[in-house]
Amino acid sequence: MAGGTHKMAAKIPNTLLIGAQWGDEGKGKIVDVLSREADVVIRYQGGSNAGHTIEVGTERYVLHLVPSGILHPNKICVIGNGMVVDPLALVAELRELAGRGISADGRLFVSDRAHLVLPWHKLLDAAREQGAETGVRIGTTQRGIGPAYADKAARLNLRMGDLVDGAMPALLSQHLEARCREMERSGVPTPEPTRILEELAQAAEFLRPFVTDTVTLLQQAYRAGRSLLFEGAQGVMLDLDFGTYPYVTSSNPSCGGVCTGTGLPARAIERVLGVLKAYTTRVGAGPFPTELQDAVGTHLRERGREFGATTGRPRRCGWFDAVVARYAAMLNGVDYWAVTKLDVLDTLETVRICVAYECDGRRYETVPARARDLARCVPVYEELPGWRTATTGISRFAELPPAARAYLDRLCELTGVPLGLLSFGPRRETTFRLGI
Ligand code: GDP
Ligand code: IMO
Ligand code: MG
Repeated sequence: MAGGTHKMAAKIPNTLLIGAQWGDEGKGKIVDVLSREADVVIRYQGGSNAGHTIEVGTERYVLHLVPSGILHPNKICVIGNGMVVDPLALVAELRELAGRGISADGRLFVSDRAHLVLPWHKLLDAAREQGAETGVRIGTTQRGIGPAYADKAARLNLRMGDLVDGAMPALLSQHLEARCREMERSGVPTPEPTRILEELAQAAEFLRPFVTDTVTLLQQAYRAGRSLLFEGAQGVMLDLDFGTYPYVTSSNPSCGGVCTGTGLPARAIERVLGVLKAYTTRVGAGPFPTELQDAVGTHLRERGREFGATTGRPRRCGWFDAVVARYAAMLNGVDYWAVTKLDVLDTLETVRICVAYECDGRRYETVPARARDLARCVPVYEELPGWRTATTGISRFAELPPAARAYLDRLCELTGVPLGLLSFGPRRETTFRLGI
């Protein structure tokens, strides 16, 4: 039995699920599918820049901070210490869920060590993007993520534990004063202090019951043999260290983020599942070698409904990039792929896979470190026949059209990782599990 003898047969081994491209691979859907067999679902990095979509029946949920296990009653959900939490956004998300009949009471735990995204972080994020002081416009989600993580590293920030602490109002006023002075100096519009303090005090009241020492909670769950499911946000190519810097987010979606973002040892991860879209998308600026600015790109955007779940921005679309997938597999020790959105390719005559890059006469088998080098890389493509058959209606993996099978086989062959799960529609039912 996978996962050791201490677990019930119906439980999955402790699984890390990461986005293996530039985010929006369909992580939310896959976490929701796997959550049924997990005990605890944990977000370990990022914040409300994430938008994880789950479709159940006619209902559609987009989660930003709350782990995607929340739709399953009785599952424990944890917002880990590595996340940056906008308390106002979390309150809004919990209220919306409650309004739709989903209660997080008693089963959502927010780390007291998680850092806060405060109103000035969002203002600074927006100002930096507009002002583009550095000449680099990243196209962030403007959710305050970069400035909050920067304050964390600079040891200037407040944490969830401070927010719900009795000493909070004084601490926050001090911070606010200092930050307002700093923002004034740099010409950023300053927030209105009284209103901010009031809103945060209300959020603190609301969130107090959820805030706890999640390091201890997770250690206990781990030692008791509970099945843990780690839900990555963003993707490997947006990783602060391994992505297309500076066109990245400010955290580590890759496997290293789990240890720093939860307080669990590396060996707590028993299996790594990489989520790949059957093609590639990216939101925001930065190099994207297989991007298509033609009719096929538009087709993928429309058929795949490629508009941001957080900001509504149109996503840039392109062919599948096996160099990126191989890089993600290598960095994270991916055991299986979960491939999503295969159905979006259903009507194409031919499909392409990027197998390597070429730049200045040199062939690249892996992703170069510098974004400006990647921007100059030209993809080397392999072309395969399309299947021109609707995959959405099929009920068994064996019914997949042979050309679709060949496409998936090639994708796995090029990356050296087997297929563990296939998704061919947004809803739970449109999923095949293959040995995972
Ligand atoms: P995440 O950020 O990785 O959770 O992904 P998003 O939710 O931002 O974007 C994925 C989108 O694709 C959502 O609208 C999902 O409902 C949808 N989706 C997920 N899997 C599939 C699939 O296999 N086929 C189709 N057509 N849509 C899917
Ligand atoms: P999920 O979890 C796709 C992108 C932004 C921008 C860059 C930095 O839904 O896959 P940030 O606001 O983090 O400072 O923006 O990262 N980005 C995402 N792209 N999916 C996401 O999350 C993203 N979160 C951030 O578009 O390019
Ligand atoms: Mg998303």
